This record gives sequence, structure tokens and C-alpha cells, in this order.
Amino acid sequence: MNGVYDQLEFPGTSGDRPYVFINMVATIDGKIVTGDRSEPVQDLGSKVDHATMHQIQRAADGIMIGAGTLRSLPNINYPKNVYRFVASRSGKVDPFCNFFTDDPSRAFVVTSIKNAESVPEDAQAICVGTDELDFEELLGIMHQEMNIKLLLVEGGSDLNAQLFKLGLVDEIFLTVAPKIRLGANIPTIADGEPLDRSAIQNFLLVSSIQVENELFLRYRKR
Ligand SMILES: NC(=O)c1ccc[n+]([C@@H]2O[C@H](COP(=O)([O-])OP(=O)(O)OC[C@H]3O[C@@H](n4cnc5c(N)ncnc54)[C@H](OP(=O)(O)O)[C@@H]3O)[C@@H](O)[C@H]2O)c1
Repeated sequence: MNGVYDQLEFPGTSGDRPYVFINMVATIDGKIVTGDRSEPVQDLGSKVDHATMHQIQRAADGIMIGAGTLRSLPNINYPKNVYRFVASRSGKVDPFCNFFTDDPSRAFVVTSIKNAESVPEDAQAICVGTDELDFEELLGIMHQEMNIKLLLVEGGSDLNAQLFKLGLVDEIFLTVAPKIRLGANIPTIADGEPLDRSAIQNFLLVSSIQVENELFLRYRKR
């Protein structure tokens, strides 16, 4: 099955970091999990959504996720030759899961210098920022030392929120699954601390594709 996009092209950044795009699937009421936060979510999107997710992954030079997402989907598979990064403070990631073993030379835990010792011995790490991971420096390393021009971020909510807050998200792919989940404490595509009214970020809708009852939206930062 093919993804919904005929061709995936990106404007690219002129700066010293990769172009960053997030891909998420959410219910009509904006929730990104079907069960508990620690559980997998493959039942949220359709087969077309899964095919589109793989299409977007293939377009990236690097993919980053939070450790919560990796722990909920330990069998996560990425295309070979794509750099993969997992953010973790605790270092609680399995260095023998597919994420690491599929392409060990391209898999990294990313964390702060303070948390360097928590990284499992069998995993490579990039440690930047003294107490907290410095995402701007990390993106600079990805761009300059790994030649990553296009970075896909696949959540979860915690990681996405930090990147939004720093103004590092250039584009969002959002699948609206025709479901209602409810729950004040159920995560959305990005939770974290709210932005001030004056700091609300605006995005342009660049495409909208309907397949049966699902909507595939693509937004780009103004
Ligand atoms: N619907 C969708 O499209 C979609 C997509 C992705 C994920 N999900 C779901 O979302 C849930 C996971 O989301 P989540 O928000 O709970 O977690 P998450 O964002 O995936 O991961 C959070 C974890 O990332 C690490 N982290 C976050 N910020 C960090 C920083 N600044 N420095 C170092 N490490 C950092 C920490 O790991 P440690 O705890 O190891 O310190 C933190 O606990 C799962 O249920 C997953 O299946 C849904």
C-alpha cells in the first residue's frame, strides 16, 4: 500500500540545523493514544496512515523520538541508513531492541552531560547541554557532523512540546483519525507548559488529503 503523497518535497532551512517535521496521528478530539501512555498506538491510524508514516520516514535523513515512545513501541522499525535518535534522561532504553540493532552505527541516545552515565553501555550517545539536553546544539551536530538535512520527529507529546517551545518545528504532518477518545489527561500531539497568548505559533495549511474517513493534513510554520 502507498502513502497518500505523490511526492514529498521540503523547502529546507537556510540555517545551520536540519528542517524539522513532526508526524503524528490523533483522534478528532486531539488525543494521541488509544490506551495507556505506556502502550502501543498502532490501532489509532488506518493502513493508509501506516503506509504514509513509512513514506514520511523514508523521506528523512534522521528520525528522533522520546524514550516514552520507544518504550511503548519496542519493536519500532526504521528504514536502514536513516539516523535514529532517542531522547532520554533516565537511560531506560533497551539497547538490544530493533531501534538500535537494525543499524547500530546510526542509532544514538541523546541526553545532557549530567545524564551521560545513565546511558546503557551498549548504546552510542550524544551528550549536549550541561544539566538539560540542548536541542539547538544537538540539531547543529546532526546538520554539520552527520549531514542530516531533514529530521523527522515522531513524538511523543513530551518531546514534541519541547521542540515547539524552542521554535524548532518547521512542519507538521497530522492524521486525523475518525475517533473520539476523551480524557483531560490523555496526551495530545504536544502537551508541556502552555505558551503565552503573545507567543502562540501560527501555521499554514499546505495540503489536506481525505482518504475515506481519515484526513491527512500538512502544516508549515508561517
Ligand atoms: N499518535 C501518535 O502519532 C504517537 C506518536 C508517538 C508516540 N505516541 C504515543 O505517545 C506516548 C509517549 O509519549 P510521551 O509524551 O509520554 O513520551 P515521549 O515524548 O515519547 O518521551 C518522553 C521521554 O523522553 C525523554 N525526554 C523528553 N525530554 C527530554 C529531554 N529534554 N532530555 C532528555 N530526555 C528527554 C524522557 O525519557 P526518560 O523517561 O527515559 O528520561 C521522557 O520521559 C506513547 O503512548 C506512544 O505510543 C503516539
